[in-house]
Amino acid sequence: MLNPSILEKLQQISGKDHVLTDKADLICYSYDATQRQFLPDVVVHPADADEISRIMQLANAEKIPVFPRGAGTGFTGGSVPVAGGIVLGLSRLDRILEIDEENLVATIEPGVVTEDFQKTVEKVGLFYPPDPASLKVSTMGGNVAECAGGPRCVKYGVTKDYIIGLEIVTPTGDIIKTGGPTMKGVVGYDLTKLICGSEGTLAIMTKIVVKLLPKPEAKKTMLVMFSSIDGAAQAVSAIIRGKIIPTTLEFLDARTLECVRNATDLDVPEAAQAVLLIEVDGDREFLDGQTRKISAIVQPLGVVETRIAETPEESEALWQVRRSISASLRQVNPDKYNEDICVPRSRVPDMIRKIEAIADKYNIPIVNYGHAGDGNIHVNIMVDNAVPGEQEKAEKAIVEVFEGTLELGGTMSGEHGVGIMKAPFLNMELQDNVIDYMKTIKKALDPNNILNPGKIFPSDVRAH
Ligand code: LAC
Ligand code: ZN
Repeated sequence: MLNPSILEKLQQISGKDHVLTDKADLICYSYDATQRQFLPDVVVHPADADEISRIMQLANAEKIPVFPRGAGTGFTGGSVPVAGGIVLGLSRLDRILEIDEENLVATIEPGVVTEDFQKTVEKVGLFYPPDPASLKVSTMGGNVAECAGGPRCVKYGVTKDYIIGLEIVTPTGDIIKTGGPTMKGVVGYDLTKLICGSEGTLAIMTKIVVKLLPKPEAKKTMLVMFSSIDGAAQAVSAIIRGKIIPTTLEFLDARTLECVRNATDLDVPEAAQAVLLIEVDGDREFLDGQTRKISAIVQPLGVVETRIAETPEESEALWQVRRSISASLRQVNPDKYNEDICVPRSRVPDMIRKIEAIADKYNIPIVNYGHAGDGNIHVNIMVDNAVPGEQEKAEKAIVEVFEGTLELGGTMSGEHGVGIMKAPFLNMELQDNVIDYMKTIKKALDPNNILNPGKIFPSDVRAH
């Protein structure tokens, strides 16, 4: 419970209507896609940077934790209020402030929904590529905080590759600018890139300067079905080795296909044990050549059938299926440990074999799909935590998945971040002195540890 005088001060800053304390409201802001729940003491929806600055000054004076929040679609608990305190909802900062068509740069506020932003820039022939599966609900502030990825990142790179400037409120309440609207800029440390992917632990974004591209003229989506998972995994390496970088190179294994069959009307023959969802984009005349080249490369690897979307609607329908996978997996078992490991792309077949061996060893279903073209696989360990021993098995399997990933030169997280879910495993990947350097940065910016505490670094907050 917050002391009533603090509540009053928050109301003075943001107005009574924007300060929520009813239990029902608090519950709405207590979880994200991990479904771990922690109740905040209060939810505040500030109007602008100035209000946020005053809230941070108050929180510092009173040592109250503050948890910035976009749409709460994160997969690692980045926005959940693990220590009570204030949830700072950024949904009122939702304007697209400028689209500068001469310079291919936009300035937006953090509460803009990703897909709304994409559609708005596409209306004037521009393109913002990063496309996390949550794009219909997730907000740009959350995308920047987590450095979100998505299928198109194979060709176009991730969120941070498009963020060239920020206005932020620091944990101690200063309002500062980093970077700016130029395509180059090397004056001082690159604070913009430091904030991207810092999971809301270093700053609260209030403006985001985004680099845009010209919208590609056309795209072509193909679904290639393979008779074996190994064939599909080898096809990924073969395409990249063939010096082709498609716009997307997504992989779905047999169990994922089973869930997709049950949850949608996509017709996939039983002989298909794995699928690659491949898209190419660019000038219209260039696309047929690209799909022909890809077909020729993958053909010897056990292709059962290749389908090419003939219309934008058919292509969108395939992508809808892809984006619904994560939710549909709960058919396999009620509890999901959703990982997002990333290995060098040529090691995807090795990684898939390792995961299959781990699934056999523990006798639990592990469902794999994801951005194979980036070497980024969503490994979903599906268990029923109500069954005695299942959770322990899942935890052991996760550790082995991480060990296998690191042995292949990979990383534990390609896109979802550390949050609370991977914090206990941080030192499997990072050397102690690296963690110490990161903590030094955190302490310099947030001496009272009030901005999104309990995230990234192992603490007494228990995750898995
Ligand atoms: C996806 C999310 C899980 O790619 O990152 O569906
Ligand atoms: Zn993903």
